[in-house]
Amino acid sequence: MYFIGVDLGTSATKLLLMDETGGIRKIVSRSYPLSMPRPGWSEQDPAEWVRAAFEGIRELTGEIERSEVRGVGIAGQMHGLVALDGGGRVLRPAILWNDGRTEEETHWLNEEIGEGFLAEHTGNIAFAGFTAPKLLWMKIHEPELFRQIEKIMLPKDYLVYRLTGVHAADCSDASGTLLFDVAKRRWSGEMLELCSLRPGQMGEVFESSAPVGRLLPEVASELGLPGDTLVVAGAGDNAAAAVGTGTVGRGRCNVSVGTSGTLFLSDDRYVSPANHALHAFCHADGGWHLLGCELSAASCLSWWGSLCGEELSALQAEIDPEKLGKNRVFFLPYLMGERTPHNDALAAGVFSGMRMDSSRADLTQAVLEGVAFGLRDGLEIARAAGMTVTASGLTGGGAKSPLWRRILANVLHLELALPETEQGPGLGAAILAAVGCGRFPDVSSAAAELTGAPAEITRPEAGLTDLYDGRYRAFRALYPALKDSFALL
Ligand code: XUL
Repeated sequence: MYFIGVDLGTSATKLLLMDETGGIRKIVSRSYPLSMPRPGWSEQDPAEWVRAAFEGIRELTGEIERSEVRGVGIAGQMHGLVALDGGGRVLRPAILWNDGRTEEETHWLNEEIGEGFLAEHTGNIAFAGFTAPKLLWMKIHEPELFRQIEKIMLPKDYLVYRLTGVHAADCSDASGTLLFDVAKRRWSGEMLELCSLRPGQMGEVFESSAPVGRLLPEVASELGLPGDTLVVAGAGDNAAAAVGTGTVGRGRCNVSVGTSGTLFLSDDRYVSPANHALHAFCHADGGWHLLGCELSAASCLSWWGSLCGEELSALQAEIDPEKLGKNRVFFLPYLMGERTPHNDALAAGVFSGMRMDSSRADLTQAVLEGVAFGLRDGLEIARAAGMTVTASGLTGGGAKSPLWRRILANVLHLELALPETEQGPGLGAAILAAVGCGRFPDVSSAAAELTGAPAEITRPEAGLTDLYDGRYRAFRALYPALKDSFALL
């Protein structure tokens, strides 16, 4: 018996084949471009996701008995707007989670409609990457297209739609639209009305592990999979990654260093902290979580690597481990603006503190450290709210670097557990599929059984955490000093 986990990411779709004992049999990946037609904009063609997923599934299942595949689960980049017309055609390129074009709409929602109203109906305030401000942007800037919208979907829901023909949504991903009542786990009528939307445009809401349908006959034959293969609703990538690291139930943490950097705190109760600096979202296990999101994480290192024309491993090898905690160069990782904690689409990336003797290695180190400091900003909010977090799972491409793991553990004061695979969302999605197919009674027991002992634990080191505390204070002073200049840029 096999289950397929699909992680529809920003740089690639990664697919994972899991057997019924949780064994990971194969991982494949298909990358695609990210389009940035204007500064701060970020778009993708949904057809690329479908191509990547279909090709990937064929390769993933190429060496097994395909009739043994029981279910598919999909985890996806969150918040993206996929708008379809009455004929099921995509109306425009998807506007992604790290797109900052909705500065004005976000401001209108938070200031004119008011954070109180938004929080009452959704549990959250508006951030530029969320889906509702994007729809308001379309209404103003592309009214012709806006009028033609018949179906609104998040990226992974589009893939579910193409696989099954069912317009579905799951609670974890829907939470990031600002159109969803997170406490009640249903679309918010008030928010839909505010954004000139109709309930019929939204997908039917499911819990993440619930089956939404079977493969369409033509899709089953194209993929060579059994016609009764079940597709579950799936989850936002962070909730799925949390399932993949066993971050379910109350009081657990997962850090992800992928294109974005996230801090995920799971809970079995709905809590929406008063300042709304962390997002309050539904979890894929039927509970809730708080989420801090830094918009650029591993993508900062890829950006820096491409500017230097160097392999990322070679760049990191230049760093002298003796210099950890002593770097005088700082990097603000706001290459796509920032969500947690600044909620500032205009914020920009900055190198600061260079002297004539600063080296390329110092700048590379500053990039790794800047991403870690940005994550610490989110963790500080949680700690200030009284949460005690001392250990966490670690997923995402950045988790593969031992040096980055060490920096993260010491900057965050966290014991970081690296799972067998850094493919958290794909594994979580495959687990959701296994639950949906009846292999496990619920997500918690599946995660407990299938997410085994970590491959490695990185522990904070006494002297180094102190050094990094000092560096973090200096990092923290930079954004307030530069904020006004970002607005002028
Ligand atoms: C979370 C967020 C990102 C994307 C990346 O709020 O925007 O982590 O889900 O795929």
